[in-house]
Amino acid sequence: MRVIFEVLLSCLVASVVASPRYGGHESSNQHISTVELAVTSTETSETASTSSSPNTATPPSPSISPNTATLPSPSISPNTAKPPSPSISPSTAKPPSSSISPNTAKPPSSSISPNTAKPPYSSISANTAIRPSASISPNTAKPPSPSISPNTAKPPSTTPSKGVSVPANCFKPNGVPVGWLPDGVNMTLLQNKVAPGTTACTYGDYAHIRSTTDYGDDEIAGSASAAAEAGTVFTISLQPYIPFNQVDLQSILASMEKILEAGNQVVWLRFAHEMNWYINTNTKNTDTPYIGSTDDFKMLWKNIATAVDREKVKMFWSPNSPVPPDTITSIGDSWFPGAEYVDIVGLDVYAQSTSTSFADAFGEFYDTYAAPNNLPFVLGETGWFDGGNDSEKMYWLGQVSSAQAKERCPLYQGFSWFEYDKPSEGDFRVVMGSSDLASQVLK
Ligand SMILES: *[C@@H]1O[C@H](CO)[C@@H](O)[C@H](O)[C@H]1NC(C)=O
Ligand SMILES: *[C@@H]1O[C@H](CO)[C@@H](O)[C@H](O)[C@H]1NC(C)=O
Repeated sequence: MRVIFEVLLSCLVASVVASPRYGGHESSNQHISTVELAVTSTETSETASTSSSPNTATPPSPSISPNTATLPSPSISPNTAKPPSPSISPSTAKPPSSSISPNTAKPPSSSISPNTAKPPYSSISANTAIRPSASISPNTAKPPSPSISPNTAKPPSTTPSKGVSVPANCFKPNGVPVGWLPDGVNMTLLQNKVAPGTTACTYGDYAHIRSTTDYGDDEIAGSASAAAEAGTVFTISLQPYIPFNQVDLQSILASMEKILEAGNQVVWLRFAHEMNWYINTNTKNTDTPYIGSTDDFKMLWKNIATAVDREKVKMFWSPNSPVPPDTITSIGDSWFPGAEYVDIVGLDVYAQSTSTSFADAFGEFYDTYAAPNNLPFVLGETGWFDGGNDSEKMYWLGQVSSAQAKERCPLYQGFSWFEYDKPSEGDFRVVMGSSDLASQVLK
C-alpha cells in the first residue's frame, strides 16, 4: 500500500508517496489518485487483490484542514484545493539549516548513549548480557570525541552512534549505500547490471508472522542465504499478523538466529514496518492489518530490542509517511519506542512529483528522529508511486542517491529501491525492466 501526500514548500509543490509493500507474492492496490491531491493510498494485499480499485478511496485531505491552518498555505499553489498534508508544516516552521546540526540541538552525550541512559536489558535475560557490546558497534569503535576533550566531545555528525554495518566496499555512489528489494531476482546478476563487479549494500525481503507457530521462516530462508552469498546486509521486513501482544520473543530470536546462521553477520530487522499504515485502525488499509494498541506495539518492540543481540540484529524503525491528520511528529508520539531501542530510522516514501526533492520528502523526518538521536537514517523502501516512467524513476533514483541527500542528512545511510514489477500498480524497476536506468544514474 502506499500513501501519497503532497509537500508544499513555498511555491514548491512537492508530492511524495509512501508505500509499504510486500514481497512479490501479494499485490493489489488502490490508488486514490487525484491530480494534485493531498493524499493517496494504495495498498498491496494478498487477500484483497480484488479490492484494488484505483479510485476507491477518497482523498482524506478535506479532513486535514485544521492542522494545516498554521501552514504557510497562502504561499501554496492552486493545487492546495486540497489542504497540504499537515506533515509539511513543521519543516517550514523551522529552517532546515538549524535543524541539520544534531549536535547543537542536543548535547550528544545525553542523546547519543542510549545504553548508558537506561540499560533496558540489564534486568532481563541472558541475551542482555551481551547487549552492552552493541554500543561499541564498529563505527563508534573509535569515538573521536572521548579521546579529545570531554566537554567538547561530539561525535562527527556523519558517524551514527550505533553504526550500521554495511560492507565497507559495497556500492556507494556519492557516498550513499545502494540497496535493493529485488523481488527474488539474483542479487549478483542485478547488481552487475547496475555496476559490474560491485556489491550492493543491502538486500531486502518481506516475511510474515501468520500464526503463533509460523514466523515466516520459509519466506526468509532463501533470501537470507542469497544475501549472505551476495555479501550484502540482509534487511527483513517482518510483518506480524497476530496481535502484537501475542508475538513470541523466542520465536523472533529463533528467526533472527536462522538468518545469522545462513551466513549473515548482521541483519536489519525492519519489524512491523509502516506500522502507522498497517494498523487495523487505519481504515484506508485493506491489506492484512497489524493488530493491537500503540502501547502494545511499543512494548513488543522494546522487548525484542532488549532480547536480541543488537550488535548483530539492528532494530530498524520504519514508519510510513503519515496519513493526515497524522504528522511526522504524531506518528512518533504513537509509535516510536524510544531511541535506546532503535538502531536505524527510516521513512517509506514514494515520490509523485519531480518537484519533490530528497529534502522535501525526508528533511522533517530526519530532523525529528535521526538527527536528535544520532541514529542512522535509511530508506526501507522507495520508488516512484505508480512505478513511474523512465524519466520519473531516474529523477527519484537520482534524488535518493545524491550528494545533496548526504549533505542535507549527514546520517543518511542509504536506500532500498523497490525493484518490483506489479501489474496492478506499476513497474517500479530501474534495473531489470525494459530499460536499464540505474546504471545511468548510479555512478
Ligand atoms: C546468483 O548468480 C550468481 C552468478 O551467476 C551465482 O554464482 C549465484 O549462485 C546465484 N545465486 C543464487 C542465490 O542463485
Ligand atoms: C513521464 O511522465 C511525466 C508526467 O506524466 C511526463 O511529463 C513526462 O513527459 C514523461 N516522460 C517520459 C520520458 O515519458
